[in-house]
Amino acid sequence: MFGLLEGLVEKNKEYIKDGDVANYIPALSKVDKNQLGIAIIYLTKDGYKDYFAGDYTTNFAIESTSKVITLIMAMMDHSPEYVFQKIGTEPSGFPFNSILNMNINNKEVPSNPFINAGAIVVNSLIKGKDSEEKINRILNFTRKLANNDFIDVNEEVYLSEKRTGDINRSLGYYLKGKNVISGDVEDILDAYFKQCSISVCALDLAKIGSVLANKGVCPWNNKKLIPEDICTITKSIMVTCGLYDESGSFAVHIGVPAKSGVGGGILATVPNKMGIGIYGPSLDSKGNSVAGIKLLQELSKTLDLNIFE
Ligand code: DON
Repeated sequence: MFGLLEGLVEKNKEYIKDGDVANYIPALSKVDKNQLGIAIIYLTKDGYKDYFAGDYTTNFAIESTSKVITLIMAMMDHSPEYVFQKIGTEPSGFPFNSILNMNINNKEVPSNPFINAGAIVVNSLIKGKDSEEKINRILNFTRKLANNDFIDVNEEVYLSEKRTGDINRSLGYYLKGKNVISGDVEDILDAYFKQCSISVCALDLAKIGSVLANKGVCPWNNKKLIPEDICTITKSIMVTCGLYDESGSFAVHIGVPAKSGVGGGILATVPNKMGIGIYGPSLDSKGNSVAGIKLLQELSKTLDLNIFE
């Protein structure tokens, strides 16, 4: 398996040139785009085995991949029924930060929890008296899911997100104006910018994916962190909405629940089999890791991971 992963990383580096780092967030535009790495946490009868290759320990900004974690928390803090009164479960077909995701002519709630408008609503639902309490809860949960106490917010990325986050600000105020969120918009956005700035590596994402694959139970200590129904809902939304307006082709060609982020991360989870974390900061036009997607596509074919087969 190590040989397979090393070969796939080397081969798929050729696609790095077809994309670029996210340059709308200044701190992300400084990242070296020539990186690619993968980690796998493979579920076994009595625990797990880990496999990795390339830049799998390099830290990067979690960005939209954090939306998986906050969705789980909001459902656990309330209930799935409550959360999905405030956001839809439909893929939108529009870019992740588009105001069109608001379903303006329909129900006037964001299409799904993974586009920015939906993720801002999700963040507003997380319990905590202010952004500090919320981000501490998000960090603690992320640390447990990834079995890594060192996970923290990258201050430079956070300040960069906050300084340049005007589209998110406009989405936040629109949602407040439409009574979809309540409370202090700036404080909710502050917690959202911080959740996107959490620093993780591909191995952390693979571990989070393995908990989802294992129906909410950590394969390393058998602790149940997520109720099973919430795991199932999360994986379903990852399949339909995880890669924004590229979700359809991703499902057709790869067939694995996954969530991307503009930091270059992909968190994938193969039910009952494995968690996969990928890092490749060169992005395609939709904001997804260009070489990472190719790598995952080849891995899915080689290991027969497509859940629809
Ligand atoms: O809100 C934003 O635009 C970023 N902090 C996160 C966007 C993102 O990762 C979209 N994913 N591909």
